Amino acid sequence: MTKKILVTSALPYANGSIHLGHLVEYIQTDIWVRFQKMQGHTVHYVCADDTHGTPIMLRAQKEGITPEVLIDAVHKEHSADFKEFLVEFDNYYSTNAPENRELSQTIYRKLKANGKIATKTIEQFYDPVKNMFLPDRFIKGECPKCHAKDQYGDNCEVCGATYNPTELINAYSAVSGAAPVRKETEHYFFKLSECEQFLKDWTRSGTLQGEAANKMGEWFENGLNDWDISRDAPYFGFEIPDAPGKYFYVWLDAPIGYMASFKKLCETKGLDFDEYWKHDSTTELYHFIGKDILYFHALFWPATLEYSGYRKPTQIFAHGFLTVNGEKMSKSRGTFITARSYLDHIKNPEYLRYYYAAKLNSTMEDIDLNLEDFVARVNSDLVGKYINIASRCAGFITKRFDGELLPLAGSNFTATEFALLEELTKPSEEIAEYYQTRDYSKAVREIMRLADLVNEYVANEKPWEIAKDTSQDGKLHMVCSASLRMFSVLTVYLNPILPNLAGRVAKDLLGSNTEFNWNMVENFPIKKINLYQHFITRIDPKQIESMTEANTENLTTIPTAAPILDSSDAPETKNEAEYISIDDFTKVDLRIAKIVNAEHVEGAEKLLKLTLDIGEATPRQVFAGIKSAYDPETLKGRLTVMVVNLAPRKMKFGMSEGMVLAASDARGGPFILSPDVGADAGMRVK
Ligand code: 2FM
Ligand code: ZN
Repeated sequence: MTKKILVTSALPYANGSIHLGHLVEYIQTDIWVRFQKMQGHTVHYVCADDTHGTPIMLRAQKEGITPEVLIDAVHKEHSADFKEFLVEFDNYYSTNAPENRELSQTIYRKLKANGKIATKTIEQFYDPVKNMFLPDRFIKGECPKCHAKDQYGDNCEVCGATYNPTELINAYSAVSGAAPVRKETEHYFFKLSECEQFLKDWTRSGTLQGEAANKMGEWFENGLNDWDISRDAPYFGFEIPDAPGKYFYVWLDAPIGYMASFKKLCETKGLDFDEYWKHDSTTELYHFIGKDILYFHALFWPATLEYSGYRKPTQIFAHGFLTVNGEKMSKSRGTFITARSYLDHIKNPEYLRYYYAAKLNSTMEDIDLNLEDFVARVNSDLVGKYINIASRCAGFITKRFDGELLPLAGSNFTATEFALLEELTKPSEEIAEYYQTRDYSKAVREIMRLADLVNEYVANEKPWEIAKDTSQDGKLHMVCSASLRMFSVLTVYLNPILPNLAGRVAKDLLGSNTEFNWNMVENFPIKKINLYQHFITRIDPKQIESMTEANTENLTTIPTAAPILDSSDAPETKNEAEYISIDDFTKVDLRIAKIVNAEHVEGAEKLLKLTLDIGEATPRQVFAGIKSAYDPETLKGRLTVMVVNLAPRKMKFGMSEGMVLAASDARGGPFILSPDVGADAGMRVK
């Protein structure tokens, strides 16, 4: 029976880049969606950028742009990253969309009408300079336990202690540097405490994985608190109806973004929104999330839906975190890798898709990306086992038999070939079940066991030996035809994980234009074998080295303007006061510099080496992070502005003796600054 299924992945925040940790979830979901589509089900996969909240508002302010400009730029970046990793959303939207505003307000009104909204006056920290209430993450100070300075309001990164912001010593606002004061404000609450019985029943309905249901048990034991769903202006988000100056907390409208993205899809595709979201919908709804946001999805979200008259999720699939080489991703070890940086260095997104699939299961356990193992596994499985079958056999079929494959019936296949073909198709249901239950590691293991069997067969038959004797053409044709039929079975099995490779193999090698479906395991519509071409190359361990080196380099303060969008979701931390004095400013010695030479730096991802004449006897050498924007040749002879009294800094590639000024924000850059006509090298900037 074909089903109607709506699938979501968690909405990434619109203030940072997609990194390899995020990709675990999008790849996990995309594989599942592709598998469901191969089963003939109607599947809609939607997602969006999570655009609201204080960090995004402050980041935009800092960059001197509106939040809308910032989130537009990030939307473009995220969309491109997902596309290149073959994560195929049916709609990738934004929570800052009219559909989401309307749905959020409607849902809030229904909750209110159902008596589930209360107001309460609470006391919160307030920044008297910025005139805004401060979330805990924006209050910093000295740890009350170990006295480490500059710790966040909720926990100490040095000793690991957790505490309330009130316990911090010499607390200051991370936004302005001012000492926060306590101030009363009225907040809106969703009465979660009244939803306990409903949530207990819902938990028992098989919606959650075992570990997640246990976690729910703990939460019930501790008692459910009402949920604070409002924030005071200034806030980037949706205003609460009939509550001027009060905004929905980002976590209220974020999951509603799933609905909004689907609503938009309904408009473009003519689908029926209510069919999927009405209270008694018979369609299925699945949310893929990380284990850190289970609380939001297993408590707030179903309760919100229940008391506003919508359907609840069919299941919530939570996964664990990603570690790299056994440890938390780290900028200093070069393992905090963005999607873009992976693409720049490794190029092929399907290697990562394959590796993640080989590691993923249905639990909330963390998965490890061991970079050495990644290279070994991809090279041995994809190149050495899977593609190897085609590269050993396809050439003979095209060169010697005009691309024609022998049909199964009426040919000279022997019992060996038939038995092996059956061995390959037999586990079709088992592999499908592994995909269905998100046990991809088991699916991969089984597919590779089958690939081993085919390789063994090819190694025994040695087509390259048979080919030497033309009187054995019949056998050569048979062995290669059988091997390629087996190869086509593996291709169908691998398609959810490697859609690009499988698609190219099907079209360019096996001459098939049919969309993949699971039944093709039994009968792959091979038309004619085309000339064999290279489909995949081995990963060179050097690519890994250069990727981690490039990401370690990001930690070095690159002597140019701040990066446009760094990959951290953490709020801005600015622990100095908002203003500097004139004395502070005059300390900075700015001069006009002539770029006498500019060149690429071997192994550096972002840097150019500049030689700058500032009227001194010896020119200065500066490494500037402007490679993405400039061809070094075009810089030679240009004037720019340089900070000349910055302490020299030893970088991986040599000393950097200053800094050139450049402008950038989410709209583009970096753009180096140039003086007006008439200025000359060595002039002081005052
Ligand atoms: O944790 C996060 O990254 C959130 N932006 C996820 C939101 S998922 C959904 F609820 F919107
Ligand atoms: Zn501490």
